[in-house]
Amino acid sequence: MTVQPDSIPYSLVLADRGPARTFAVVNQSGGAGKTTSVVNIGACAAEYGYRTLIVGLDAQCDASVLCGYEPDMMAGQPTLYDVLLGVADFEDTIVPALSGRYGDKDTKAIENLYIALESSNLEDAEQILGPKTGREFWLRGLLEKVRDKFDLILIDCPGNLGLIVVNALVACDEVIGAVKPGWKELRALTRIELKIEDIQAVFPGVKSYLSKVLVVDAPTHRSQGAVYDDSKKSVESAYADKLLPMVRRSPRIPEAYAAQKALRFFDRAGDATQDYYKVTKGLGFPRRKR
Ligand SMILES: Nc1ncnc2c1ncn2[C@@H]1O[C@H](COP(=O)(O)OP(=O)(O)OP(=O)(O)O)[C@@H](O)[C@H]1O
Ligand SMILES: [Mg+2]
Repeated sequence: MTVQPDSIPYSLVLADRGPARTFAVVNQSGGAGKTTSVVNIGACAAEYGYRTLIVGLDAQCDASVLCGYEPDMMAGQPTLYDVLLGVADFEDTIVPALSGRYGDKDTKAIENLYIALESSNLEDAEQILGPKTGREFWLRGLLEKVRDKFDLILIDCPGNLGLIVVNALVACDEVIGAVKPGWKELRALTRIELKIEDIQAVFPGVKSYLSKVLVVDAPTHRSQGAVYDDSKKSVESAYADKLLPMVRRSPRIPEAYAAQKALRFFDRAGDATQDYYKVTKGLGFPRRKR
């Protein structure tokens, strides 16, 4: 694979930054808005001047797809699966994130935004990692190599709390719980906290914690969800100190997915796009002065 002509390959990103603040975006449930949030926070932070790395850990490859790539179709391009097998270096999986589908005429590399590509073979990741010594620390070891090259690292987790997600919880500094509004969805936050407690009981050196809660797909008017007000109140009271600005429900989000675009390249003035800029500031990444 050759990267887009206007992009700076990761191998040439030499200036030291960081150490990056590293977040894992987690929820045991599928479809909780994790990938949408990782890619759009990454795209906003990149625009604000932070060199950002997205790490895709999901066999569905949604983060890679939203960044313009179809890793399974790219012969010769190393992915995290190859790193897991020991046949590629982590740095070789890192490519510039794109503003649209790879190969499309108007697609450009997004300044400051990179992605470590995943692949559908990651389905087997737990079986491969399982017997390895230090299996919970695989990702942490990889990220150590690049932490000084980025300001921000965002890990997109699969929708479970298995070994790959444990790797993300061990590797990150902070955990963002992404939830759609609702009672069932809120219970997922408790499970994330219990999992982190479990990990810390076994590995006291692990310091990550649930630092932020991000409610996505929030109905924009009452008729869209009768239980919404109640669940909103309960998340506000239980997680008041952790709550990021909410991301409103928008049909533009699935449309942007289909176009393989981050929202800022698809619907720049849209409500959900503006919400993600606010979320990015809320995480502590306001626009940098040049
Ligand atoms: N604010 C929103 N408004 C409308 N649709 C949304 C919103 N946020 C996410 N979605 C849609 O919800 C679906 C799930 O989102 P996403 O893929 O980000 O979740 P996920 O937690 O990464 O899921 P998985 O666990 O399968 O990886 C997608 O179709 C996405 O387009
Ligand atoms: Mg996802």
